Amino acid sequence: MTRLTKGNLKEIIAVSRSIKKSGLPKNLVCKKLPGGLGYGIFLHPTAKPILKGQVIAPYAGEVSLSPQNLSELSSDSEYVFCLIQDIRLTKKEQFLIGDGLCYRPSRVYSFDLDGEKKGNFTRFINHSKRANVDAILSRLPSRTLQPLEIIYIANKTIRPGQQLLVNYEGEEKAYWGKVKPAPITPSTFRLKKESLTRSMTL
Ligand SMILES: C[S@@+](CC[C@H](N)C(=O)[O-])C[C@H]1O[C@@H](n2cnc3c(N)ncnc32)[C@H](O)[C@@H]1O
Repeated sequence: MTRLTKGNLKEIIAVSRSIKKSGLPKNLVCKKLPGGLGYGIFLHPTAKPILKGQVIAPYAGEVSLSPQNLSELSSDSEYVFCLIQDIRLTKKEQFLIGDGLCYRPSRVYSFDLDGEKKGNFTRFINHSKRANVDAILSRLPSRTLQPLEIIYIANKTIRPGQQLLVNYEGEEKAYWGKVKPAPITPSTFRLKKESLTRSMTL
């Protein structure tokens, strides 16, 4: 768990405003990639570099509490982050969840954040082992509605035109099964100013 600095909180507020206003911060571009990779997020070719430690945005989505390791009930979303796992609930709490399962004291639950149906542009940030963005589990001040957040923060300088990439696999987290990810790096599909249509420009 990482404690955010006051500077980080200010950046989160500023980027959240810009997401609310226009969906995508002005310095970023969302572009379709070849090879079935879907969309990706890039730093605009004429933008200033993003510096190491700079906040990209909070990862947004729907939060849910659901039984862990129960394939028929757990989500198979490609956009989900586990915020807390191995949560044990009382009989009353399990009843209140309303998952229809009979009470089991040993059952463990996970608290998840899923960007599949509701989210912001961070859901389009692709995976790489050579990521330039870290997903940081952070505790926000207790006044906020959702005290735990995943914050995307640059882990190195991101140069204009480079793709923003995060490593989906944490220390314990196995995202990729039999299908292996394409070995992309921030510069594999580097954007050039000439390749942008007018609607994508700053
Ligand atoms: C969180 S989404 C990322 C955004 C996705 N490109 C889109 O357009 O919705 C995760 C999915 O993107 C694809 N993806 C992301 N990084 C990839 C990589 N390095 N190689 C292959 N597929 C990737 C996979 O389908 C993965 O399940």
